[in-house]
Amino acid sequence: MLSDKRILLIITGGIAAYKVLEVIRRLRERGADVRCVMTQSAKEFVTPLSVQTLSENPVADDLFDLTQEDEIGHIRLSREADLIVVAPASADFLAKMANGLANDLASAVVLASNKPILAAPAMNPFMWNHPATKRNIARLAEDGVSFIGPEIGEMAERNEAGRGRLSEPLEIVAAIDAKLERRGRLSGKRVLVTAGPTHEPIDPVRYIANRSSGKQGYAIARSAAEAGADVTLVSGPVELAAPHGVHQVKVETAQQMKDAVEAALPADIAIMAAAVADWRVDAEASEKIKKDGSGKPPTLTFTENPDILNWLAHSDERPGLVIGFAAETTKVLEYARAKLKRKGADWIVANDVSPEAGVMGGDENTVHIVRVDNGQASIETWEKMPKADVAEKLVSFIADHLD
Ligand code: C5P
Repeated sequence: MLSDKRILLIITGGIAAYKVLEVIRRLRERGADVRCVMTQSAKEFVTPLSVQTLSENPVADDLFDLTQEDEIGHIRLSREADLIVVAPASADFLAKMANGLANDLASAVVLASNKPILAAPAMNPFMWNHPATKRNIARLAEDGVSFIGPEIGEMAERNEAGRGRLSEPLEIVAAIDAKLERRGRLSGKRVLVTAGPTHEPIDPVRYIANRSSGKQGYAIARSAAEAGADVTLVSGPVELAAPHGVHQVKVETAQQMKDAVEAALPADIAIMAAAVADWRVDAEASEKIKKDGSGKPPTLTFTENPDILNWLAHSDERPGLVIGFAAETTKVLEYARAKLKRKGADWIVANDVSPEAGVMGGDENTVHIVRVDNGQASIETWEKMPKADVAEKLVSFIADHLD
């Protein structure tokens, strides 16, 4: 049931817009309050009258209509909603969202919003597969926008098939339901997340690092914040922006990461997704190391870095739930089980990062949850899914466990 929920539905132009009438009907059946904003081109496909009749609310459609703006200002529209749904989300509208344009009511509402956004793209498969659209989707995912679909199937244009069909109305409603259900499940909880690689300096210009992109850890921080947690994200050097509402602490080295983790305590839940370098160079050279003409390479000696997870799991301030990660290239489960014991974590999220699995730096992940509850060891394998979905599922899993 969605009876206490307010959904702001943004309808953009596309032949699939007619299916959204069914989405509105289903949402109303479940008791949701549905407000709709239509773009100019959406009105070429469905009439505001149908939308208004089904949603039982006036349709907002023009940023420059002063009466409307007065009655249902775009800031108010976005602030009052529990969730913003963009369906169908056209290629054009996604491009606008990705670039922060706000030249009509629909895009202004999205830009002025601090609410979670779910987009249901629908477009021609060529448009969906275009590098520009891919870039926009990746950017929006980084900004925290969730997606449902598009699906593979026949297009409205005859003889065209491929990925681009709007998801079925009931699927969209289910995604809305799932997204709203997670809200508030971790409210009042302090969550500490580590993410990204660490950089261990060799000299002022060189460092040792690893291929961690930080995407999985950032997605987890975002999902936990969406679920209402107070999130601190301790991050190594990555190219990602801090998710909305997350307190981000940027560090470079493993030692700095440990200090930042310590400073962020106490926490109820710790999710250690960072790929911390195991070793650092013994003594960082104060000047750039030069070739000395002898043809002999310099010798680097290493010291072991602190194991942050191990230290945290055994500290006096141990969070109630400590989750480690295990990125392995072989014997994934065997190593994960051993790691669980050795490091004192409650759960280990294990994944295969062998080059064939293509996970490192990618957008998808196949994970296994290895855990011991009341002395019982168990392993659960989740199918391959986008890192954002792994994050949402992990947050739900944590909330179920706490319940
Ligand atoms: O031993 P390994 O690096 O494979 O263990 C991975 C897990 O341990 C991850 O959760 C990682 O964040 C954590 N770790 C850590 N400090 C280290 C090394 C790993 O917290 N120095």
